[in-house]
Amino acid sequence: MRVVIQENYQNMCLWAAHYIAAKIRNHKEARPFVLGLPTGSSPIGVYKELARMNQAGEVSFANVVTFNMDEYVGLPHEHDQSYWYFMHDNFFDHLVDMKPENIHILNGMAEDPEEECRKYEEAIASYCGIDLFMGGIGVDGHIAFNEPFTSLASRTGLRSLTTDTRIVNSRFFGNDPEAVPAQALSVGVGTVFDSKEVLILINGHNKARALAATVEGNVSQKWTCSALQYHNGAIIACDEAACGELTVDTYKYFLDIERKERL
Ligand code: GLP
Repeated sequence: MRVVIQENYQNMCLWAAHYIAAKIRNHKEARPFVLGLPTGSSPIGVYKELARMNQAGEVSFANVVTFNMDEYVGLPHEHDQSYWYFMHDNFFDHLVDMKPENIHILNGMAEDPEEECRKYEEAIASYCGIDLFMGGIGVDGHIAFNEPFTSLASRTGLRSLTTDTRIVNSRFFGNDPEAVPAQALSVGVGTVFDSKEVLILINGHNKARALAATVEGNVSQKWTCSALQYHNGAIIACDEAACGELTVDTYKYFLDIERKERL
């Protein structure tokens, strides 16, 4: 696992955006580059920088296919808290050459959620899997909407949100946890795990426990993010604030090794 520690949120986002852009540019195969994407506040700076680079002609999305991590059940696209809306508002609408047909987001209004999730896995497989899955993390360590004790082998499916997650996400719903949908469709830990690379953004003091659990904790379904310890291409991009619960040795180790990576 690589852990790339940046001084602050902005630098973390710049690092991640430039890493992703380089991967897209270096993708020489005829098949598209397949990119997994998250919502949440963490990736907003990454989306801004990728959009800037795209508009400046520094990276093209013409041969990129995207799959989003998750979507609330019961929110239509036009709802300003649906992840469909979030992704278009914060990212896709700002790209000059993203093809709408290459965008995949789970439909939280699907009549048959199981069928929707089965088809999503099939669509990912039809592109031979995801090249790079960017993700965020919940304060309880959830990846996508895979709450504590979701199987580390889970696939795309219907999830119930914990009270804790609904309280945290209520900041977008007038501070009313009851207004946050109780369910979501989400890729599984196993779906994320199957990607060639996984890049997780972890920033802020409130994510410090989750970062320590991801990097130093035992692999456990209690912290679904800890599954990444078994992934051969896992990168954590984080800021200093999120490092507060790492041991000093761990913190120094990653700074040291990353300095060498840059040489
Ligand atoms: C939600 C999303 C996750 C996201 C998490 C953290 O629960 N389903 O994919 O990682 O929020 O969001 P934030 O980046 O706003 O802290």
